[in-house]
Amino acid sequence: MSEKPVSAEPPAAGPARFRQGMRCLAGSVTVVAQQSAGGTLSGVTATAVCSLSAAPPSLIACINMTSVLAQGLVAGAPFSVNILSEHQEDIARAFGGQKGLSGRDRFIYGEWYRSDDGVPLLAAARATFECRVASFVDYGSHRAAIGLVRDVHMSDEADATLLFADGRFVTAIKTDPV
Ligand SMILES: Cc1cc2nc3c(=O)[nH]c(=O)nc-3n(C[C@H](O)[C@H](O)[C@H](O)COP(=O)(O)O)c2cc1C
Repeated sequence: MSEKPVSAEPPAAGPARFRQGMRCLAGSVTVVAQQSAGGTLSGVTATAVCSLSAAPPSLIACINMTSVLAQGLVAGAPFSVNILSEHQEDIARAFGGQKGLSGRDRFIYGEWYRSDDGVPLLAAARATFECRVASFVDYGSHRAAIGLVRDVHMSDEADATLLFADGRFVTAIKTDPV
């Protein structure tokens, strides 16, 4: 009986197939934002954001290496993660590049203010996490930045979180709390 050689690196699924599968994974829509040490303002709509640890409070944000923002997510750099509400689809589109804006021009959407660190924070976000990059990993197309959360701001509004699933913005139908 001939044995199939076991490769150390099995062939990966194609990127298109991967994206197709990932469209089924509903995600909360956020804007990850920063003002770099050099003063460059950047912000990107991102669903690849996840809670990582409660102690120390940390999250992970995965940003495409082609983005100016990714280059600024280096150890110690401050940044914010702003969770959008159902009423902030326009902001999601602006920072997602669908309105043809880049860099600081995207910040005309939404009301932004600055933290003591100079980080842009979205006033009406459902929740805003002020972070510092604890470490980062460059993997394939993306930089995964681990953010140590220094402060959390919450909106008083009872809005729902804006979600993205099956290639479109959606809002959740609320059921009983778990
Ligand atoms: C709903 C949605 C979710 C997205 N999620 C991510 C993400 O998690 N990471 C990422 O790097 N880009 C994500 N993008 C794409 C970026 O927002 C988009 O490419 C943006 O224009 C990049 O900014 P840049 O032009 O400064 O590179 C997403 C876009 C949308 C509309």
